[in-house]
Amino acid sequence: MTTTPAVEMRRYGLDDLTDDLRQTLTDVYAEVYADRLSDPFFDIPRFLDRLEGHTSRPGWEVVMGYADGEPVGYAYGSPLPERTRWWAGMLKLLPEEMTDETGGTRTLALFELMVRQSWRKTGTAHRIHEELLSGRPEERVTLLVEPTHPKVKTLYEAWGYEDIGDQQPFPDAPVYATMLRQLRQLRQLRTAQPHASGTTS
Ligand SMILES: CC(C)(COP(=O)(O)OP(=O)(O)OC[C@H]1O[C@@H](n2cnc3c(N)ncnc32)[C@H](O)[C@@H]1OP(=O)(O)O)[C@@H](O)C(=O)NCCC(=O)NCCS
Repeated sequence: MTTTPAVEMRRYGLDDLTDDLRQTLTDVYAEVYADRLSDPFFDIPRFLDRLEGHTSRPGWEVVMGYADGEPVGYAYGSPLPERTRWWAGMLKLLPEEMTDETGGTRTLALFELMVRQSWRKTGTAHRIHEELLSGRPEERVTLLVEPTHPKVKTLYEAWGYEDIGDQQPFPDAPVYATMLRQLRQLRQLRTAQPHASGTTS
């Protein structure tokens, strides 16, 4: 009988972003996206450019799964800044209250999620994903998925995401479905409103 080795989850933030960690992120990406690396949007220099952009934001974190000391996959994201371009590429405008960003704990953008082939269908991707989210303070999480990958989209729907419309973030990027999942009730609803004191300041 074969057993699946236990996966240890490690969380890294910007302070932990060494050259070694960058290399591990790149190596796993190169393996998982091996059949797309000839597409300029998915090649390694472009991945590194995106990684550079994503890690230039405060609050970036990755959860990496390891089995027997070897990386098996990861999920990373950063909070959307107040003046984000995330919603600018929506093909149909969303109501302002959906796209307003505070730059605080409003929205986590999940930029990458991948597991190596032998770790697919083992629940590892979901565990990595939930581990990342469990340590985050944001009210909601958003990610993009290619509509040409309907099974991945269905998977995300099973994980609690909702499709809120298509977007094309860059002219040479694919058109993506934008997925959104609520992580907790809005701060206003969570925090009991203090009663009016009647004093002025
Ligand atoms: C997405 C991912 C993390 C999910 O892992 P998982 O929970 O173990 O789920 P699976 O790998 O079984 O994927 C679910 C289904 O989506 C399909 N799928 C996964 N990645 C796909 C891709 N890049 N393109 C097309 N279909 C894909 C799988 O074949 C599977 O369908 P099946 O059940 O008919 O075989 C993993 O499939 C992965 O690393 N994929 C490559 C990277 C990727 O596409 N990341 C998502 C970016 S939004």
